[in-house]
Amino acid sequence: MPTVHIPMRHSDTAFREAARGLLGSATAPEHVIWQFDNADGDLFAAPPPPVGPNKHLSVPRAYVDLMNVAVWHSDPQRFGRLYTLLWRLRDRPGLMSDRGDQGLAKLREMEKAVRRDKHKMTAFVRFREIDGGARRRFAAWFEPTHFITEPTAPFFANRFGDMDWIIQTPHLTAHFESGKIRFSDGVTKPPLPDDATEDLWRTYYANIFNPARLKVKAMQAEMPKKYWKNLPEATLIPDMIAQAERRARDMQEATPTLPPLRSDRILARLPVAPTPDALNACIRCPLYKSATQAVPGEGPRDADVMIVGEQPGDHEDLSGRPFVGPAGQLFDGVAKQVGLARERVFITNAVKHFKFTARGKRRIHQRPDAPEIEACKWWLNGEIAEISPRLILAMGATAAQALTGSGKNIGQRRGKIEHHNGQDILITYHPSYLLRVPDAELRDRDTALFRADLEQAATWIRC
Ligand code: URA
Repeated sequence: MPTVHIPMRHSDTAFREAARGLLGSATAPEHVIWQFDNADGDLFAAPPPPVGPNKHLSVPRAYVDLMNVAVWHSDPQRFGRLYTLLWRLRDRPGLMSDRGDQGLAKLREMEKAVRRDKHKMTAFVRFREIDGGARRRFAAWFEPTHFITEPTAPFFANRFGDMDWIIQTPHLTAHFESGKIRFSDGVTKPPLPDDATEDLWRTYYANIFNPARLKVKAMQAEMPKKYWKNLPEATLIPDMIAQAERRARDMQEATPTLPPLRSDRILARLPVAPTPDALNACIRCPLYKSATQAVPGEGPRDADVMIVGEQPGDHEDLSGRPFVGPAGQLFDGVAKQVGLARERVFITNAVKHFKFTARGKRRIHQRPDAPEIEACKWWLNGEIAEISPRLILAMGATAAQALTGSGKNIGQRRGKIEHHNGQDILITYHPSYLLRVPDAELRDRDTALFRADLEQAATWIRC
């Protein structure tokens, strides 16, 4: 019976290779033993069949997406489950959309748990500064539920690319040095130095805590107790809950305040999905001065697809909701034609405040510039971390710039999936562009391309 050893590092690649070999040699799942890392193995066990040079296997995209996430789950049977599903797909190619299938449902559950754990890691890792070399150095300890340190490390490399850091966990340690990620073995919890940063965390948390909105159950669902012991700000929680009622009364009489400026460095790095209150306190660029209000994204927190536009327009600025004006109506119309249900996607903008010049009573849209896009990326990254979408549809050059670092010719890039920081991004035209094209023939052609792009995005939404 072939025994397959899957290592802790690059488990996804090892599983893919092994599954390809097994499938190529028609080895049924019940004849395979899967072993993880250096678990004691049977010395005489047969290795998996090698992959033949020309073995081309066609596997549905939905399976690949599921496997890439579920493979990091801590369930010891995950490899067996994934291989069984792959095996069954040979005779039932439509299996991936069978909602009643128990094997698939179990793996979907596992996929969801891994996504959630990854999100928690992006939100709850707390770095402490350690003695530095040429670059500043930070260390953090985190206890994930699943084996997510490896697939989540690129998020931190992207967010904290200007410093060296190390994240230690019980199963794996991720190092980021001079712009490169590497991994070493996991460790038991090390003593980490106290750090002034912890005070900033407490300051930040005390400032965003709104006693008038306290819902203890919801708070614990979002920040489960198991994470509290490693969160400096969690020491404040019991006291804040106890005092919430009195503070809520006091707040009704007080005017709103902003977090102290000294916490800006920490604020600049926190992945937190923006609430309207937090966004409206934003002074990261000057756009807040003339806009009526900031416009946060909207949609389900577990959306598979996230849609990013440029910035709120006149209607959005007044209503506080994204894509409700003419561009939004065009988007809604085309989305409906291709079965992209707006209530299933999370829709937002790269920049959260309306930029305009006043001409008489009219407010004329102005494109946000590079520093404004850069300043607002913090909010956009917070939304991405919260939603963890499978696909982001970037509409127009500003969204493309914010998400890929390049706003180059959308006509040439549209319709193709780009990969940036581990995220799949599909680029398309902005609906406002389609509203402005003067030539009817060109407008029809580009609208058809836009429709094809939305249709492609819709295929990323799981049933
Ligand atoms: N254009 C955008 O990019 N976003 C909106 O919300 C409205 C118009």
